[in-house]
Amino acid sequence: MRDAWYPVLLSKELPGGQPLPVKLFGDPLVLFRDESGQPACFLDACPHRFVPLSLGKVRRGRLACAYHGWQYNGAGRCVHLPLLPEGQSIPRTAVAHAYPCMEREGAVWIWPGDPRRAAASPLPLPTELPEGFELTNQLHKRIPSRYDYLIEHVLDLPHFFQVHAATLLRLYPASRKSLPEVVDVQESAEEMTVRFYYQIFSQRLPVTMKIFRPCHMRVDMALPGGRSFTALFFNTPTDETHTRGNMFVYRGFLTAPVLRQLSNWLLELTFYKAINEDMHLLSGQMENLAMKAKSTTGYFFDALLNRYHRWQRHADEQDLWFQGFEHARQRCAASPALESAAVPPEVEAAPAGPAPWGRPPAFGGSDR
Ligand code: FES
Ligand SMILES: [Fe+2]
Repeated sequence: MRDAWYPVLLSKELPGGQPLPVKLFGDPLVLFRDESGQPACFLDACPHRFVPLSLGKVRRGRLACAYHGWQYNGAGRCVHLPLLPEGQSIPRTAVAHAYPCMEREGAVWIWPGDPRRAAASPLPLPTELPEGFELTNQLHKRIPSRYDYLIEHVLDLPHFFQVHAATLLRLYPASRKSLPEVVDVQESAEEMTVRFYYQIFSQRLPVTMKIFRPCHMRVDMALPGGRSFTALFFNTPTDETHTRGNMFVYRGFLTAPVLRQLSNWLLELTFYKAINEDMHLLSGQMENLAMKAKSTTGYFFDALLNRYHRWQRHADEQDLWFQGFEHARQRCAASPALESAAVPPEVEAAPAGPAPWGRPPAFGGSDR
């Protein structure tokens, strides 16, 4: 599951000039924009004395640590070290641990797995969209739920009638009484597809929800009047109890500037209101889950949710969540980005030499 691209921020959330801490699978990370304006991502611990780099500043596209002022370029290489004695050069080992990172579709994406696999892997963006569709909205929210329970939540159609009757269902009053009719569930190793119909007055309109590896969802929904939209839900696992929900909406109608602005404003208002209706329910569910709570009822609709969890469990790995800096550092070690980046001339070719005052006496203890 770690071997995948995840959106962690929208481009506009990462202005140049200051570093920003984020979490992905519990890994503490720092993001900033380098000299060329490209986003760069490191483990949020200075390789010198492990102070968080996010406490530092960005100086001319380099991330400067707040503790001793060492500066790192976008590839993670220390390129400026104040207070270097005459004749000494920057140790080659002064390297921040970089994660593969790129900017596309208005978002910053990070690869938290084996960096050697990143370049050959595509972003999980929709490949086939209906003619004329364009990206019209990008919404996001930190949600107090683990990624799989968040997906379960979207699949859980009955909860819409209880929780979102005054928001999402108000858009379609006539659909308020009857539970949509699930007509088909298919699964393969890569995806699980649920098709259902919802009722508006006399119309039966189709919706397809496709959950795809590693933990994202695509919803294609028909609207009255022959229109439809596609929403991508990228569920970026922040830590074991939180997910950054990213919703990218694509559509081919109401795209004229004024209409687009008005409709987006309405959509965002409704979406954020609906999400707020869920927050306390999801966080309470997480707290009980941590204490090994289990469903015991066997309500018919839950068969779909249980089936999804079984499908999703195949994706999980032993080391999904943060297991300490040493573990994360090893994962970053083989970064091709660093290998290919030029070593600045001020960095010496050999590992750091002995201190000018020689070896310490052998009185034991650790230098960490
Ligand atoms: S701890 Fe970052 S420069 Fe020393
Ligand atoms: Fe909800």
